[in-house]
Parts: sequence; C-alpha cells; structure tokens
Amino acid sequence: MSENKEIFLKDYQEPYFWIKNIDLDIDIYENETFVLCELTIERNKNFSEKHDLVLDGHDMKLLNIELNNVPLHDDHYEVDDEKLIIKTHEDYFTLSTKVEIHPEKNLSGEGLYQSGAIFCTQCEAEGFRKITYYLDRPDVMASFKTTVRGDKKQFPVLLSNGNKIDSGDLDNGRHYTTWEDPFKKPSYLFAAVAGDLAVVKDTYKTISGRNVALEIFVDHGNEDKTHHAMESLKNSMKWDEDVFGLEYDLDIYMIVAVDSFNMGAMENKGLNIFNSAYVLAKQETATDRDFQGVEGVIGHEYFHNWTGNRVTCRDWFQLTLKEGLTVFRDQEFSSDMLSREVKRIEDVQGLRNFQFPEDAGPMSHPIKPKSYIEINNFYSATVYEKGAEVIRMIHTIIGKENFRKGMDLYFQRHDGQAVTTEDFVAAMSDASGIDLEQFKVWYDQNGTPRLDIHSQYDENKKEFSFTIKQSATLNNDQFNALHIPFRYGLLNSDGKEIKLADGGMIQLKKPEETFVVKSETAPTPSWNRGFSAPVVVNYELNDEQLTFLMANDCDAYNRYDSAVSLYQKEIIKMVQLEEGEELGLNEKLSQAFGAILKDKIDPSFKSLILTLPTEDYINEQLPIHDYENVYTAIEFLKSTLANEHLETIVDMYNDLNNVKEFKLDAYSMGQRALKNTLLSYIAASDLEDKEELLKAQFINANNMTDELAAFKNIVHTFEEIDETVEKFKQKWQKEELVMQKWVAVQAMRPGITVTDMQALENNGVYNNKIPNHVRSLLRSFLRGNPRAFNAEDGSGYKYIADKIIEIDAYNPQIASGLSRSLRHLKHLDEGRASKLKEQLQRLLDQKLSKDTFEVINRNLNN
Ligand code: TRP
Ligand code: ZN
Repeated sequence: MSENKEIFLKDYQEPYFWIKNIDLDIDIYENETFVLCELTIERNKNFSEKHDLVLDGHDMKLLNIELNNVPLHDDHYEVDDEKLIIKTHEDYFTLSTKVEIHPEKNLSGEGLYQSGAIFCTQCEAEGFRKITYYLDRPDVMASFKTTVRGDKKQFPVLLSNGNKIDSGDLDNGRHYTTWEDPFKKPSYLFAAVAGDLAVVKDTYKTISGRNVALEIFVDHGNEDKTHHAMESLKNSMKWDEDVFGLEYDLDIYMIVAVDSFNMGAMENKGLNIFNSAYVLAKQETATDRDFQGVEGVIGHEYFHNWTGNRVTCRDWFQLTLKEGLTVFRDQEFSSDMLSREVKRIEDVQGLRNFQFPEDAGPMSHPIKPKSYIEINNFYSATVYEKGAEVIRMIHTIIGKENFRKGMDLYFQRHDGQAVTTEDFVAAMSDASGIDLEQFKVWYDQNGTPRLDIHSQYDENKKEFSFTIKQSATLNNDQFNALHIPFRYGLLNSDGKEIKLADGGMIQLKKPEETFVVKSETAPTPSWNRGFSAPVVVNYELNDEQLTFLMANDCDAYNRYDSAVSLYQKEIIKMVQLEEGEELGLNEKLSQAFGAILKDKIDPSFKSLILTLPTEDYINEQLPIHDYENVYTAIEFLKSTLANEHLETIVDMYNDLNNVKEFKLDAYSMGQRALKNTLLSYIAASDLEDKEELLKAQFINANNMTDELAAFKNIVHTFEEIDETVEKFKQKWQKEELVMQKWVAVQAMRPGITVTDMQALENNGVYNNKIPNHVRSLLRSFLRGNPRAFNAEDGSGYKYIADKIIEIDAYNPQIASGLSRSLRHLKHLDEGRASKLKEQLQRLLDQKLSKDTFEVINRNLNN
C-alpha cells in the first residue's frame, strides 16, 4: 500500500525552497470556488544541487500556472492528485496558480468547507493543501495577504488573518475584503471565513496601553451566549501578561463559532475558529462543565498566540512543543481562575482515564512520535495531556522563577522561528542552570512508567527506608531510567506530617534507589503528591491506611486518590467474587464515605471524592475486562452507600437545593456539582419518593447543570422515560448544543441496544455530517456504555464498524477517532475477542482513509 507511507522523524530535512510571500484570492461561488495564488519563492541555499519544486495539493483542479508571469509550458511541470512538480533552475521567482475547489462538497472538516451556511477553513495539520498548491509544512513561514470574494447577501462577513486593509463592492451583488497579516506564519495557521454572522464586540487594553478590538462572530440569535467567552478571552489576555509577561501583538482578535468542527478550536493567527460548543454558553443552555470548557479552550487558543504561533514547530513530530506547553498554560490559567486543587484532580482524572489506556494500548507513542502514517492521528491525549505533564515536571524540577526565565529565554532565542522540543528544553536548562539531559527521555519513551516501592521500618534505629524501582508498564519495550520529580510525605499516627530533610521532594534518576528517613514511629506514606509525575505507583496500602489518608492527608490530590483506591479495591473484590458468594458492604469504606459526606471541605472537592470510578476505569485495571460484573459491582456499591447514608444525603441535597441564585464562581459551581452527585446517589437508593424528587429538579431547574443532571438520572434510572425524553426535546429542539446532550444521555442509558441506537439516529435530530452529533451519539456510547458496546453477541462491535465505514467515506478524522475505541482486543475474553477481531478484519478489507487505516491496523496487529 504505497499511499499508507510511514514518515519518520529521522528523515527530516529542510525544504528545497522557501516561500517569502503569498497573495491569495479566494473567490466563492455556489458550485465552485476559484483560488488564485501568487507565491514569491526563493531556493534554499543550503542545498548545492538544484532540485525540483514539489508543492502539495489535494482535491483540486489546476486551471492556470505562470512562472514569473509567463504561462508554464507543459514540459516544465507535472501534476497529480497529491502534488505539483515544477522544473526550474531559477533561484528567485514568482509562481501563480489558479485552481478550482469544491468547498460546498467538502465534508472532511479540513481545508475550505461549509459549516451550515458558513464557509470556513481548517488548515492544521495539512489542510492548506486542499485550498491551493503550497509547501504545506510548518517550517515554511510566509507573509500572507488574502482577499475573500463572495455574494454580499449570502456572505456579508468576509474574514482572514491579520488586519483588514481593503474592501469594496464588485459586480453582480458581490463584494470583497482584503486582509494582511504582519506576522510571517506557516500555512497551518491560515484562516478564512465567509458567512452571515452576528458579531459581538469588546476591547482590551494591553499592558503597554494598546487597544485591541475583540470580535466574536456567531450565528444570528446566539449573541446572548457569548458573554462568558468574551470574559474568558479578556481574562486570558490579562493572565498571560501577568504570569508570563506576554502581550497580544495584533490590533484585532477575532473568534468565529461554527457548528461543524472536527476538534475543539483552532488558533489561526488573529482569527480563531471554534467549535460552537466552546464559545456559546448561558445559564439556561450550558452546564458548569460547558462554562469551564469555554474558559479553558478560549485560554488554550489564546495562549497559542505565543506558544505555537510566534514560536512554531519545525515539523509535526514536534507537535507537543506547542500542544503540551499550551495545555500546561491553559491548565494553570484555569487553576488561577477557579480552584487549583480541584483542577488538578480533574486533569489527572483525564490523564488516567484516557491517556494511560492510550499509552498502554496499540496506539501507544512517545509525546514526540518517531513516525506516523497520518499526522492527524497524533493529536492525541499523549501529545497533549502527557505532554503537559512533561512541561509541568520541568516546572517542578527547576521551579517557578526559573521556568519563567526559561520561557523568556525561549522567546528571546526563537521568536519568529520554527523549532524543536530540544530547543525548548535547552532554553529551560540554560536559564535555570539545571541539567535536563536525562529528563529528555520523557520525550522519546512511550508507555506509562511504573514505580514499585518497597518500604521497611526499623524500630531500633527509628528509620523508615524505601526503595523505588522504575520500570516500564509495557512489556515489549526496552526501558531507560527517567528523571522523575517525586513528591511525597510521611504521616505519623496522629495524622501529622513528619519533617523531612529533603522537603518531601526527591529527584529519581536511577533504575533503583533507596532512601532513608528518620521517623519516631512507623509512618503512613503519601506517594506522588499532587501527582507530581505521570506514573503508576505500585505500593500496597491496606484499607486502614487508605481511610487514614482520606481523612488526614494534607495533599488534596492524594486524599482524593486514596478514596479512588478504596473504591477500586472494593469494586474489584466484588467483581472477583466466586459463584454463590454474597456481595456485602465494607464497613470501613462506608464509614470513610460517611465522614467525607459530613466533612467541612470545599463542595467541588467533596463531590469528586464521593464520585465512584467509571466502568471503563475499573475495566482498565483488569487484565481481561469484565463488563457485566463491573457494572453490577459499581451499581451495588453505589446503592448500598446511598441506602446506608440516605438520611444525610437527602438532608444535604435539600439544603443545597434551596440555593436558588445562579452564580458562576467556584463555590457555587461546587455546590451544584455536589448537589448533583448526591442526586445520583438518591437515584440509586431505595428512597420511596425519589421519582418525584428527580422530576421536581427536572421541572424546576433554572440552569442546564441541574436540568441535565435530573434528566440524565431519570433516563438512566427508570423504565418509563418517554414522557421525560419528549418533554426535554420539545423544550430544547431549537438549541443545537442542548439537543446534542439529549442524544448523549440516551446513548449512555444502561441496557440500550443497537436497535435503540439506530432509532436514535432516526430521531430527526441526528445528522451524521456534523462531528458534534457523531460524538454525542457514538462517543457517548463507546465511552459511557461499555456494556452495550461490548455486548456478548458482538452487535456493538458490528454497529460501530458499520458507522466507521460510513463516516470514513467523508470524514476520515472523525472515523479514525471512533476507531481508537476498538483497541482492547488483548483485554477481551475469547468470545468477544473473536467478534471484535472479525470486525477489525472486515474494516481492514475496505478501502479506508490513511487515518482510519493506521488506527485499525494497529488495533488488529499491535
Ligand atoms: N491546534 C488545535 C488546538 O490544539 C487543534 C486542532 C484543531 C486540530 N483542529 C484541528 C488538529 C484539526 C488537527 C486537525 O487547539
Ligand atoms: Zn492546541
């Protein structure tokens, strides 16, 4: 298969040509779009031989080509469906092309495409080559000038990157706008938009006193849902000035919200394009999680302006250079906006629920991959979330002040350049004077490291000693010892901290190291505090120690983690019961649960500690997944805990439910989170009037957090749900984003069958061309309904395989995203494994996109 070619980092070389300037003209008509492109090109002097110029270009028809304003003779160029080859000996020349493209037929979410009636672009990673012939790689940085033309009524708004320098009317009711971007940029940061959009405006005065125009473009009627996005944008701008001394660099910052978008959002220079789910939010339609998502993604894309745009990636293997760093920055931003402890727990939950399994499965790759077939497959939890953990560890190792110095040095050295992760680490190391050579192994080694800890207490010497051994969780790879910043604490029997000479922070560097600490009594250790390193710690703590840490640890993350471990142990114990053995409730666990319920801790934190692990999370801990028993065990634990503490739960619920004022601060969101966690326990309990209670919340809620929680608990608890489902639909059918939640809740309903899923597809709401719809139907099913997806008869596998084939035909990125869920062949019982294998094989027998091929092939064969 020649088209599924693997590309290697070690083969990187500079391009044979540089592009200095690009003058683009995008002329949009109903049935086609013409793109005129004028490039100023210079031969790269680092090569002595004269190579041909090979431009990338997909899905386009070349209509005209001129070199230095002279039409090119047929002998001097070649064109196929992936490239345009120009044979020339010139060292400095202009090249003009005119191509025809069809955005109106483009459903891939890449290049120029239509989202509803809006024309918009998505160029990262390699979408620009679907717009014009170009050197579509991030180390080629050019000055862009762009004119967009279209019908004035249909497209009153015409946008591109940078500053508007011209606009005017054309014949036949058409008009144009010309934009110029003063900053050189790689093609993946290009953007253009044409549409009939409402705009909400504001301004931001930067630290040096410049006024920046802020403009958020949305569909007409959605203006009242942009307030939070605008506030988040201003907060992001301020935060980057305060924390990193980074100021915005253009006079205008635009955000466009579109309904069809493959990912969350895109940081195009001065013109971000967003999935509308990360812009639109108001009390009635958005949950607190949605509000936080808006803040986080707005921050993320804004922070890219420096980490990604001003300093960009040399090649796509360096993706984590901008993504890991920018995720770290958005996590820190959100921590400063709301609660640092809670944000850390949520981020680590994400890491452990999604990145750890990815890194233990067939798609496992280092944060800096060594090869790929399709780069789109490497916008992964590993590159993003583990990448952010790697940056966080640098921050921990060198300290906050040095980290800031390192960032300053990084920009001083590399502003305007396309660089590598080594350049970033060098700046950090040079600025701090701390050696990070061994640390770099984190960039190149895949798999979650495992730390086996053995400890001993010597009564006579009053010494606690522990040995930490590093190893790989993946058994196929050779393992190199890592530099790991490891935070820990020791608690004495009163729950007080034992003073440690090392301050509770050790730098692990050897495969095995032993540490000795003075302690008057045998201590209880609290390892990897704050999750200081993304590792699996293997150390046996008994139920007493876990409940002790749950109650006493001063480290919020580990308090939470002790609770998770306790739940996990209990659930797995139940899963592994022999036939005929009875399920019972662990008294210690129940007491600890009761103590947390009554504790005077922050409500968000309490809500997190009271939440049981997901089915997926538990299954991941078992060598062979056990979908039915895991489900039953979690349900049993939940209802038993609920019934044991029912009075407290209901009282607390009622108190919280009396808070009627809607506020968006951390405390108020925490109260709602806790209330709805309690609600889910009530739903699992034997409370007699629980149906009335749930329905009362459903009907009386004044915000989507409460309304959706009630809706979900009703739909997931009772048999008769049609009326509730219909009521919700009637109320919200005009709200695109709310209807997606309506679909998701149903796709996660326990006991749902493939037939039910097919009925959902035909409910008049679902549209398989809109990525958010696919995610709310199918991703919810895959992640939120493991029992149905892994149904013993293989119906779930066949259904998903059918959907992958259907979607891959027009949107490979979304199809490959779904394919990632079919990664657990090695963890299935024989019956299920053979059924999944059959579907993977069937998929491979199709003509698949590169994206989907790479994932399915790995899932079947790795
Ligand atoms: N750079 C974007 C971000 O992290 C990610 C992104 C948006 C993307 N759209 C994409 C990546 C399409 C690949 C393909 O914010
Ligand atoms: Zn990003």
